[in-house]
Amino acid sequence: MSRSPRVFDPVAAFLEDVRAGLLKRGQKELPCKYLYDEVGSALFEVISVLPEYGLTRADARILQRHADEITARIPAPTLVAELGSGSGKKTRWILESLARREAVTYRPIEISRAALARCHHELDRLGGVSIVGLEAEYLEGLSRVALERRPRQHLLVLFLGSSIGNFDRGPAEQFLQKIGAILRPGDALLLGTDLVKPVPQLVLAYDDPIGVTAAFNLNLLARINRELEGNFQVSRFRHTARYNERERRVELHLESLDRQVVRIRKGNFAVAFEKGETIWTESCHKYMIEDVAEMARHAGLRVEAQWIDHDWPFAQSLLRRD
Ligand code: AVI
Repeated sequence: MSRSPRVFDPVAAFLEDVRAGLLKRGQKELPCKYLYDEVGSALFEVISVLPEYGLTRADARILQRHADEITARIPAPTLVAELGSGSGKKTRWILESLARREAVTYRPIEISRAALARCHHELDRLGGVSIVGLEAEYLEGLSRVALERRPRQHLLVLFLGSSIGNFDRGPAEQFLQKIGAILRPGDALLLGTDLVKPVPQLVLAYDDPIGVTAAFNLNLLARINRELEGNFQVSRFRHTARYNERERRVELHLESLDRQVVRIRKGNFAVAFEKGETIWTESCHKYMIEDVAEMARHAGLRVEAQWIDHDWPFAQSLLRRD
C-alpha cells in the first residue's frame, strides 16, 4: 500500500506549539519564532531603527567598515549562505566586496517566504551576485546548500544580528556544533553576537518608550486570535522585559493584568491565567567576548578574527573550520 507523503502544515504546527506552551505546568511559554509573522516582521524592522535598540546598527556598521578585511580572509571561489537573511540589507556590504573579485552565488535561507521576497527586492540589482533563495529551516537549508558546493569552492556562512542569542545557551552550542559538522576545512562562519552592556541600557532596548517592542510582543496574542481563532483580549496583557543577571539575558514576557480564561477555538481548548501570571515569549542572550571563543571551540571552530563595535558593544567573529 502506498502512502501519500506528509505535507508540512504550518497552522497545525503553530496550534500544537501554542497548545503545548500554554497548557504547560508552571511557566507558560511560546516559541519566539512565532513573533515573526508579517506584522511582527514589519515591527521588527521598526525596532531595528529605534534609538534605544543599537544592535542592528552596530552589526551593520561593522560589516560596512570591515567588509573587505572580512572577505579577504575567504579564499575564492566562495559560495555564501545566510541563515535568516531577513531583508538582506546588511549583507549587501559583504556581497559587494566579494563581487569585486568574483561572481558570487548567494543563498539566503529563510522559513519566511515574505522575508525571502524582501531580500530579493533589496539585493536584486547588485552586479555580479546571483541570489537563489531557499525556503527552509536553517540546518536543513544549509545541508542542502553545502551539497551544491563545487570541489574547490569554500562556503561562507553568515549568521548575523545576534540571532544566536535567541537560543538558550545549551541549544546555541548544539546549533553551532551542527553548523561546524556541515562545514569543510577552510569554510567559515561569520557570527554576530551582542555583548553585555549596562542593565538599564539593555532594558530600554527591549522596552522602548514608544511601545514598538511591546506591540511586537503583544502581536503574538493577536496572531493567535487571527490564525487559531483565539479570543485573547490583547489589552488585558502587558509587555515586560527583565534582565536575568545570572543567565545574562533579557527575558520578554506577556503578563496577564487580571484573572481570565482565554479560548483557542481551533484547538478546542481553554487556558486560565492568574493576575500577574506571564507567558515567556523570548530570551535575548548577551555575551562576553570570551564566550564566543568557547562556543566556537565546542563546535570544532576557531576564532580567526574579530571586529568589535564600541559604540554599542557588539562582536562580529570569523570562525574557521580547520
Ligand atoms: C532577532 N533578535 C536578535 C532580536 C534580539 O535582540 O534578540 C529580537 C528582538 N526582540 C525584541 N527586540 C529585538
